[in-house]
Amino acid sequence: MQIEPLIQGVVARSAHPYGCRASIKEQIDYVKQAPQIKQGPKRVLIIGASSGFGLAARIALTFGGAEADTIGVSFERGPSDKGVGSAGWYNNIYFKDEATHHGRTAINIVGDAFSNTVRTQVIEAIETYFEGEVDLVIYSLATGVRPNPDSEELWRSVIKPIGESVTGASIMLENDQWVESTLEPANENEADATIKVMGGGDWESWIDTLINAESLAEGCKTIAFSYMGPEVTHPIYLDGTLGRAKVDLHQTSHALNLKLANFNGGAYATVCKALVTKASVFIPTLSPYLIALYRVMKEKGTHERCIEQMQRLFTTKLYGQSKVPVDGERLIRIDDLELDPEAQQKVSELLEQMNAGNFKELGDYAGFKDEFMKLNGFNFADVDYAQDISLKALKRLKP
Ligand code: NAI
Repeated sequence: MQIEPLIQGVVARSAHPYGCRASIKEQIDYVKQAPQIKQGPKRVLIIGASSGFGLAARIALTFGGAEADTIGVSFERGPSDKGVGSAGWYNNIYFKDEATHHGRTAINIVGDAFSNTVRTQVIEAIETYFEGEVDLVIYSLATGVRPNPDSEELWRSVIKPIGESVTGASIMLENDQWVESTLEPANENEADATIKVMGGGDWESWIDTLINAESLAEGCKTIAFSYMGPEVTHPIYLDGTLGRAKVDLHQTSHALNLKLANFNGGAYATVCKALVTKASVFIPTLSPYLIALYRVMKEKGTHERCIEQMQRLFTTKLYGQSKVPVDGERLIRIDDLELDPEAQQKVSELLEQMNAGNFKELGDYAGFKDEFMKLNGFNFADVDYAQDISLKALKRLKP
């Protein structure tokens, strides 16, 4: 069979295994020639390791100077008679392949990170492969649901403004259409549920589990990712349900920092740049901002993808410094180039003029879509997309 791209709205319904392999290799090539991570961690647990920031962090730490071994947790779908499986499934497989060839240990645990089963598997893997301790825990989940550990209930996050409605446009990747919509504000229950899913609660519970299992090494650090963005994005992000969850995550980082002080370590929320990932394209009314930002940052030569962001985070902020540089709220800021006032001025000017008729000319829609296609293994020049792929052979590949 040949694998074609299949997009529904803003969600990819197919993935190309060999394109995913090409994407992993491209990211490895980048970190190998970038400034190298000094005094980096050797044993790293990544919760949410199969795509976006988590995968980029894993690649940076293994190939970008630290020579780390990694345990990666993710929730991905393998091939079945219903479909070829998700990009993250193949990212896990090909990352492990490359890491093993490089002489590094890479363990993939595929399952629900909120479950006790996965926690037990992780503790066992730390015992087996890491002599019982980790040096860094990266929490990089992006999800819409979390089971309440004390009941049968499922918390569901919503992406809505708070207080006032927001009107804006989203771009449907399926048919390249600009669609205007109004989002009504969330109620308190929805805002609370979003904090449960995307706030710091589960991050803290993971660290507590690891402390109880005596799995944290001396000097262990933990990070989780956040976004703040410029004012134009605040109604849908920082002032909305997601922003509330991120404020909770920031507060959790302070509580965890106290706990990790017992190990001479630290906990940091890390504020990243807006980027095209499986999770971010799902945020309504954000895409016009993203295509304007891509255009401006590419023109200025400051554009970064997840991989550049992560390599810069580990080389200039988290390792090799006498002290981790943070802002007044004790956040690591790697969103500095996005928030550069000159860049934001240009982004605002573009957004003021942008509409359904001209967004492809004014913004970098082509670059935005290309990045989305690449996330799912399409659009790589050196992959033969006409080749016949056997589902049977794909089913034999194990993460
Ligand atoms: P992503 O969708 O690319 O990756 C999410 C990861 O979480 C995947 O590995 C997925 O398998 C895993 N996952 C989801 N549910 C799971 C579950 N129940 N059990 C185990 N694994 C599960 O997302 P992205 O964009 O890399 O997001 C990661 C973090 O970065 C999020 O906290 C997000 O808010 C934050 N962030 C993202 C920005 C962006 O522009 N994409 C900007 C700043 C922060």
